[in-house]
Amino acid sequence: MLIVFGGTGDLAHRKIYPAIYNLYVSGRLPEHFATVAIGRRDKTQETFREEAANAIRSFSRENQGNEEDLKQIVSRFYYHRTDFTDFGGYEKLKEYLIQLDDIYQTNGNRIFYLAVAPEHFGVIVRHLAQSGLTGLNRGYKRVVIEKPFGKNLQSATELNNIITNVFQEEQIYRIDHFLGKEMLQNIMVIRFANALFEPLWNNKYIDHIQITSSETLGVENRGGYYETAGAMRDMMQNHMLQLLMLTAMEAPVSLNTHDVRDEKVRVLKSISTMEPEMVKSHVIRGQYGEGMINGRRVPAYRAEDRVSSDSMTETFMAMKVKIENFRWAGVPFYLRTGKRMPVKTTRIVVQFLPLPEILYYKEFQNLEPNRLIIEIQPREGVIIRFNGKKPDTRSEIIPVELDFCQNCAVGEVSPDAYEKLLLDVMEGDSTLFTRWDEVEYSWKLMDNISRAWSLDQPDCPIYASGSWGPAEADELMKRDGRSWFNE
Ligand code: BG6
Repeated sequence: MLIVFGGTGDLAHRKIYPAIYNLYVSGRLPEHFATVAIGRRDKTQETFREEAANAIRSFSRENQGNEEDLKQIVSRFYYHRTDFTDFGGYEKLKEYLIQLDDIYQTNGNRIFYLAVAPEHFGVIVRHLAQSGLTGLNRGYKRVVIEKPFGKNLQSATELNNIITNVFQEEQIYRIDHFLGKEMLQNIMVIRFANALFEPLWNNKYIDHIQITSSETLGVENRGGYYETAGAMRDMMQNHMLQLLMLTAMEAPVSLNTHDVRDEKVRVLKSISTMEPEMVKSHVIRGQYGEGMINGRRVPAYRAEDRVSSDSMTETFMAMKVKIENFRWAGVPFYLRTGKRMPVKTTRIVVQFLPLPEILYYKEFQNLEPNRLIIEIQPREGVIIRFNGKKPDTRSEIIPVELDFCQNCAVGEVSPDAYEKLLLDVMEGDSTLFTRWDEVEYSWKLMDNISRAWSLDQPDCPIYASGSWGPAEADELMKRDGRSWFNE
């Protein structure tokens, strides 16, 4: 049984209900399943189901008119009105779930999905425990928590203490939805299932690695939240560091959850500490000004709803990270993420070292380096760029590509990240969720940066919407004789 706190909210409508529907349509939803949405407003069962059905119609990847399936699935959706702070509401919820258990034979299994603002996590978890809803005498009990998990190490630790007072680590599923993306899961396969890549995956052959996640969207209607988060807390601390961990980790001892997470955390532990001086030279921030996106004029960040007119919140962040271990010593990792950039893309570019300056490398000064590009989204694929002879010339050399795309054929749509992640929670597999020490070390890294920023009050240069961020980000690369790969 899936119990969604914030069951009438945006996340439930855009992601959770469409994911349930798609799992149902593709035959992957467990037979014994029901959903209870918890909300504060008065609502009849019919109204709630109609709203959920509409959300699925609008946001599901598979919907396309299958009204019978839709009817079937929403008939298993229930609404329970209660205030999160009202203890009595949880007692009633308990009774309600026991009744539904009988109908759906859900055997006391409970997944509590906290799709609410973080300030409500504590009270919900405490009341769940006090009302006996988390007792393990019958069925499993799991809790799913959305990001942001805290806003620095201290608040994340406090939050974690509250949750671990009630739930064991194995019962906690901290969502980073990037981990549910097909190509993120593919990174380990590409690296560890190919003799072609793994032997080269180190400082003997790699010059540097760049990881970009750019969006064309602005903050939309999330100005209030974003003002307190910025690109650092919204993207860098979680999604970007996940990409870094998967790209840089050592081969785990096995593919089990524990071993994989151990290796990922080791990457974070090996990142050299960012002292304030280093932050100045290695971390760049920026904020979007007005500009053009897809031929449309868009406003500056400071003109967005619920954003202060003199806001210094960063909507762009780039940083250079050093991983101090034998594999990576001397290979910088450049990470950048930003809103209102020219394209939506998430990709990892692995740039190889040049060959010695003999033969072609001697004769031609501007040979392109070899690159491996892992495209995470929206295009999902792998591109290898290498040098080849231009046909019909004596020895002109041009860059050519081997290009594998796994979602380019018409009609091929990868499952949404939430489908994969929800199913994993139901199956009790937490490999694709964030363990506490990942959160802990990622905040340690980010806290050093925000501390340096608060001491130094660095500039937050404005970049035009539709550009690749402030000139300072290009400078970061140029200083090292490198450049961002923006093709
Ligand atoms: C979310 C951030 O976690 O990820 C958003 O809060 C961002 O600001 C989003 O837009 C990007 O996710 P995706 O899946 O659209 O790349």
